[in-house]
Amino acid sequence: MSALLEIRNLKKEFAFGSILSRLRITAVDDVSFDINTSEIFALAGESGCGKTTTARMILGFEEITAGSIDHKRSVAPTDTRRDKVWLSHGVQAIFQNPFETFNPLRPVERYFFETVRNYKLADSDGKARTMVDETLRAVGLSFEEVSGRYPSEFSGGQLQRVSIARSLLTSPRLLIADEPVSMVDASLRMSIVNLFKQLRDEMHVSVLYITHDLATAYYVSDRIGIMFRGNLIELGVVEDVLMQPKHPYTQLLRESIPEADPNRRWTERVSLSDIEHEEYMRKGCRFAGRCPKAMEICRTDLPEDLRIGSVMVKCHLYAGECND
Ligand SMILES: Nc1ncnc2c1ncn2[C@@H]1O[C@H](COP(=O)(O)OP(=O)(O)O)[C@@H](O)[C@H]1O
Ligand SMILES: [Mg+2]
Repeated sequence: MSALLEIRNLKKEFAFGSILSRLRITAVDDVSFDINTSEIFALAGESGCGKTTTARMILGFEEITAGSIDHKRSVAPTDTRRDKVWLSHGVQAIFQNPFETFNPLRPVERYFFETVRNYKLADSDGKARTMVDETLRAVGLSFEEVSGRYPSEFSGGQLQRVSIARSLLTSPRLLIADEPVSMVDASLRMSIVNLFKQLRDEMHVSVLYITHDLATAYYVSDRIGIMFRGNLIELGVVEDVLMQPKHPYTQLLRESIPEADPNRRWTERVSLSDIEHEEYMRKGCRFAGRCPKAMEICRTDLPEDLRIGSVMVKCHLYAGECND
């Protein structure tokens, strides 16, 4: 397996409040992981743990406070005037709410033809149409079905497919999908996550699948990283992490998938709840206040990343078992 993206010691600090009463939180704290070629990597955890901030840094929407993001297999931009970080690295974003991705007053096909034109992907109208039809077929739709239709004429699930199809036009290597099914009808969620599998298998696209829903994460992903208050606390092959969770937080998460708030949007400036803030400010393990197995050291020292077999776990309980 070769890495497509290498994230090392990634950190993001946010400051709150007035200049006089500045509060800082480290929304993403020393996070490291790779995404391999043709891999679906899930990033999971309850709302406010730093998933979206991580995604936004990878996309270049948010400055990095420290650490590095290395796109190992960058593609040459086809048009440097429009060179955007994510595009030149072969990365595309799929947003939570497809109805916000498209202007309600424009037929959706226009977005496709605009992308083809902007990136000079075809040299005739006929070729452009064929290309658009091919990407729509890759997601189970066709140009016929989409032509002349406005966003409101699609269901959420269909429109999410349309937005995935559009992202495929530039032949991305990595899709970053932040809660892509949380606005989609429960009955259609599987068809969207299946689509990610199909794109991985047939087009060798990798997907960073961000979700608070462990059931779809288990179903769709190859590996998973669990975040808690800015820390990546467990990482490994999805069966290992979700079937034999090591970290007490992962164990809890598996039993009671916490209420997440799917309405929190990418760009929304959110205020911290008291508990969230208190946990972010903890000196030791951020989870110690809620952890049924917390020990004295957990309240004072942040655990190291420990490697147990193929799994990484950030928890003092395993300090003696580490195989490094
Ligand atoms: N632009 C911002 N300014 C200040 N704090 C932010 C900003 N964006 C996110 N945060 C805070 O960072 C933490 C992580 O947020 P986020 O990455 O959106 O988490 P998730 O996507 O896992 O719900 C939260 O406490 C959130 O309030
Ligand atoms: Mg989020």
